[in-house]
Amino acid sequence: MSINREVTKSTDKNNNMLRGMLKKMGGPRIVFLEPYVSSFQVTSNYASVSLGSNKQDLPRLPVPKLKDTLQKYLKSIKPYLSEQEFAVTANLVEDFASADGVGHKLQALLEQRAESHLNWLEEWWLNTAYLEYRDPVVVYSSPGLVFPFRNFCNQEDQLKYAAKTLLAALEYKHLIDNDKIPTEMMGKNPLDMSQYKKIFGTCRIPIKGRDKLSFNDSKHVSVFHNNHIFHVDLWGSDNVLLNEEQIVHQLQKVIDLSTKSAEVSIGILTSENRDTWAQAYELLGKVSDEVNVKSLADVEKSIAVLCLDQPVGLWCHNDKDKMQNVAAGQTIHGGGSESNGGNRWFDKTVQFIVGADGVTGLTYEHSPAEGQPIAVLTDYIINYIEKENKPTSSSASPIEPVQLKFQVNDDVRRMIRTARENLDKLVNNLELNCFTYDKYGKNFIKSQKLSPDSYLQMAMQYAFYRLYKTPGAHYESAATRMYVGGRTETIRSCSTESIDFAKTMLNPQSSSKDKVAALQKAIKAHKDYTVQALQGLGVDRHLLGLKLIAKENGIAVPKIYSDAGFAKSTHMRISTSQVACKCDGFMCYGPLVPNGYATCYNPRDNDVNFATSAFVANPETACSEYRAALEQSLQDMHDILLQNIQSKL
Ligand code: COA
Repeated sequence: MSINREVTKSTDKNNNMLRGMLKKMGGPRIVFLEPYVSSFQVTSNYASVSLGSNKQDLPRLPVPKLKDTLQKYLKSIKPYLSEQEFAVTANLVEDFASADGVGHKLQALLEQRAESHLNWLEEWWLNTAYLEYRDPVVVYSSPGLVFPFRNFCNQEDQLKYAAKTLLAALEYKHLIDNDKIPTEMMGKNPLDMSQYKKIFGTCRIPIKGRDKLSFNDSKHVSVFHNNHIFHVDLWGSDNVLLNEEQIVHQLQKVIDLSTKSAEVSIGILTSENRDTWAQAYELLGKVSDEVNVKSLADVEKSIAVLCLDQPVGLWCHNDKDKMQNVAAGQTIHGGGSESNGGNRWFDKTVQFIVGADGVTGLTYEHSPAEGQPIAVLTDYIINYIEKENKPTSSSASPIEPVQLKFQVNDDVRRMIRTARENLDKLVNNLELNCFTYDKYGKNFIKSQKLSPDSYLQMAMQYAFYRLYKTPGAHYESAATRMYVGGRTETIRSCSTESIDFAKTMLNPQSSSKDKVAALQKAIKAHKDYTVQALQGLGVDRHLLGLKLIAKENGIAVPKIYSDAGFAKSTHMRISTSQVACKCDGFMCYGPLVPNGYATCYNPRDNDVNFATSAFVANPETACSEYRAALEQSLQDMHDILLQNIQSKL
């Protein structure tokens, strides 16, 4: 189905068609909230975009009760602590919560903040989790999303695919801009849709200490080829959108104008530490206000980036896992300075990647949005590409692509050289192991009347314990989008119950009945925590809020933040996120801590795509072992569930 780009008014017919289409694509349960008035304004100041608007009339993120959070906290740290350590933490928590402790004061201040902010956490979270974070966004923050592989026969195939990707993205943007994206639901609760408005036209700008986000509305994309950057208008001077053939033509011109790799790759600077990049950014402005500032602004204002990448030998690998690892690397870091690492602008929220030999996907800068809107966009694009699209009208006057120029001096050249070396270090230090677990998927787990997400989380807990015989602190993102401006809360997946489950599984004396009982108990504990987290009643964001309100008010950070309980339970050795898309794609990212694993997963009906990663330099971790343990755990869990059923017959 092709959506009429001229239609701006939502009609029932349109709604039904979209609803049907998105449902087929496996989108979330949906209803239309109509009219959903846009609160988005084009500006370079984040604060006026979303903070302070509640047009969907959503509830506000609650401040949990102090007593409840502290109780949950004590329960959650038990797996990591000896009795003595636990007693120390319990005492600190008791002092903190006592009548003359600082806890009540901080709680009162936080509640005051919640009264004066639509979402007491939103701005803090954006700043502390993203904009003030100084490590490179590459590997440490920005995920990649791998689309199903393509086998392009020639360059024309690649460019056609790229043109379709852009047209699909524009169609989707049109729906967003015109408030036609169906409101996602969690049960009966509508979710905050504002993240969708921040996907296109957005760019992170490096600034020493704290970056900022710039939001823009424009009609061009930035196309990268051979580390050169081009401004490509998608509308002609007659204001008519180019059709597929015309976009292919524009991309061909880009390729013809950049047959050799650029002498300097400005894009690689975006992979640097944020303060270093901020310094280089300032320097570029000083070298040439006229040329450099204009070119930087051009990329920042574009709708999105399109990276036409060099081949990476994708089809030389004859197994899917290796291909998935190559593709994951390309979407996370571009494979380094000698591959496509310089053919990127990592500050841009969405960079579509279309490689010459069929690596396709995107890299997304995480600060404005979570993975789920990006996964929905992915399904939209894949669906668009796979269907027959009716030819659309063409522009009578396409505008020629323009190559962006940069002037550099020796200092900038030096910084580019260092950025190349640093990117290569990041690339060489990231081990990726991506695979499709195809023995079963969500359907089997549901047939056992278990929550697929909690089950998979327990498989990761079991795998980690199996390898290390020690509890692994475990982060899972839960969406708090049922509240205005909601982002995420941490699900603390490691629990007394998850460790009991792993121990029961590993105990040769345990019967299958014991094992199933331990699994069910662990899943229930995880599900209970999840339900709390989805309501904004987890431990981590509340504790963060209490700490930040203390800092803001010049109050010493309480001791509960510096003891073993806090340190061990927040050193997330397993960093996980479910990012579900219907297509055979997956999201991937780097670990949170040096001796940790990342696991992003896409559970589908009959299989699960997993993307795991770890740091090569750390002697404690090895993705291949973690993967083997995870596969074995999934197999064991499947087998005990079936054995248990058989033993009942
Ligand atoms: N028996 C049978 N079926 C069950 C079940 C049970 N006991 N428990 C759950 N199910 C079903 C559900 O009804 C649901 O069915 P559906 O596929 O028809 O919708 C399905 O199994 C999946 O449910 P479950 O696996 O329990 O949870 P979930 O898919 O809702 O995921 C979270 C849970 C926490 C991952 C999700 O709520 C969330 O927050 N996602 C966003 C995470 C995020 O932000 N990621 C990006 C960060 S960058």
